[in-house]
Amino acid sequence: MASSALISDTQSWKDLRAHVEEINKTHLRDLLNHTDRCQSMMVEFDGILIDYSRQRATLDTLKKLFNLAEAAHVKEKIIRMFNGEHINSTENRPVLHVALRAPRDAVINSDGKNVVPEVWHVLDKIRDFSERVRSGSWVGATGKALKDVVAVGIGGSFLGPLFVHTALQTEAEASECARGRQLRFLANVDPIDVARNITGLNPETTLVVVVSKTFTTAETMLNARTMREWISSALGPQAVAKHMVAVSTNLKLVEQFGIDPNNAFAFWDWVGGRFSVCSAVGVLPLSLQYGFSIVEKFLKGASSVDQHFLSAPFEKNIPVLLGLLSVWNVSFLGYPARAILPYSQALEKLAPHIQQVSMESNGKGVSIDGVPLPYQTGEIDFGEPGTNGQHSFYQLIHQGRVIPCDFIGVVKSQQPIYLKDEVVNNHDELMSNFFAQPDALAYGKYQLSSQTPEQLRKENIPEHLVSHKTFSGNRPSLSILLPSLTAYNIGQLLAIYEHRVAVQGFVWGINSFDQWGVELGKSLATQVRKQLHASRKKGESVEGFNFSTKMLITRYLEASADVPSDPSTLLPNI
Ligand code: F6P
Repeated sequence: MASSALISDTQSWKDLRAHVEEINKTHLRDLLNHTDRCQSMMVEFDGILIDYSRQRATLDTLKKLFNLAEAAHVKEKIIRMFNGEHINSTENRPVLHVALRAPRDAVINSDGKNVVPEVWHVLDKIRDFSERVRSGSWVGATGKALKDVVAVGIGGSFLGPLFVHTALQTEAEASECARGRQLRFLANVDPIDVARNITGLNPETTLVVVVSKTFTTAETMLNARTMREWISSALGPQAVAKHMVAVSTNLKLVEQFGIDPNNAFAFWDWVGGRFSVCSAVGVLPLSLQYGFSIVEKFLKGASSVDQHFLSAPFEKNIPVLLGLLSVWNVSFLGYPARAILPYSQALEKLAPHIQQVSMESNGKGVSIDGVPLPYQTGEIDFGEPGTNGQHSFYQLIHQGRVIPCDFIGVVKSQQPIYLKDEVVNNHDELMSNFFAQPDALAYGKYQLSSQTPEQLRKENIPEHLVSHKTFSGNRPSLSILLPSLTAYNIGQLLAIYEHRVAVQGFVWGINSFDQWGVELGKSLATQVRKQLHASRKKGESVEGFNFSTKMLITRYLEASADVPSDPSTLLPNI
């Protein structure tokens, strides 16, 4: 395929299109009867078991998807990524988040330079700093140890670290290491988020970590200034040096902000924001909370999947298989969404993180060469832990729209509970649902195709309820079974999703590593900000907007006219 040609013009794409008709003649309840098929749709790596037998696919579908991967040069694209080539062409950057978790002795070149030593230089600096803070040898302005951390950042500078933190919080070894410490995340520019995050904290014992790749993101910078004010109004401006550190690629702006460059932790423009959790973005706050050795295990888990992704044949390659199946679901079966359903409360922030990883990466309208696409890319990702989701949106998934689901289960609970007189332990109860839901979706109400609504009638279901109680089944899902939920497994899970998203983008022929779509809203907000300032300070009327926006802004200004126009600093007081 020529580099500017679209994947949809290839024979492999057309073969898959034609193949949909065959698949539409099948039902999952029949496909699941073929043991050989099911057996070959299970893949295992480093303790993780993936079962994709409940996808609406046959072995022939897989063969055709591998042909598609070949036509899209997926293997070559993976190698180019690991080789540090500038595959993020619209920003002329390599995409090297895999280097962030590479072993110390690995060699990963970018622009003729091995980047691994720089990565480890920063990791060593984090290890040293976090140990000093945790041991109390680095103290705050009044000589007290810093036991609480507020990480200020948004998007990729927030969601990944929040996901990992939430997943580690109840893990035995990690929680022991975090005893007596708190890690909070301030992301939203909504002042309520400031109030919630500072409530109960004492500036004397709090360290603020400002996390921003660019150090220009409006929300983060206002929140950082707010936290700076919170510290300096309580402890004096000189306290900032002891109570604020930063993570950024823009060390010049960090210094201008007033943070000592020695207390800045760098990363590089070859790390995309949403792929940055393994850089200082995640490693610093997480090391402060749990200690570096726990975070190192997380990095090792991600690195193990990186190697698997790079070297495993596609038939056994988890991110490749999952990526291809997602393309099959979106582009050929026409399912626009995907539900991420971890049966683990510790993974409650997985879906919000993957939302950004996936939707900011693959929500594109043109090919990497700028050609408008005749097909949709990306999917709408959402999810909640089971069983909570079952009592919320699963109705739609069972009888409404067809939404391919990722069920994620864990063999050993982080926090087992056994009650003497119960039939099963609490984790078994949870996992009963994990095993039941995929089959409920696949089979529908009855397992045998002969059992149709007539069967329901035979069972004396009132006639007017027959259709309501019928489940069509044939709803695809895949199951991911993790051995446990340690820092290592959390790293593995993260890397599986990151690479899966990349595979999807490689097939669709888009640039999964830029995000131009977030810019327009930001620049319009700048215009509104100027207007709010001019109206409040100089009484200027609202101009330069369409009728509706002008009316809304005018109403907002009029209704909030009692807000002081030149307030002395106001901080939350809850
Ligand atoms: O607006 C989207 C975005 O640019 C994300 O891609 C990024 O993760 C986030 O904002 C935060 O950016 P920064 O780390 O530069 O503050």
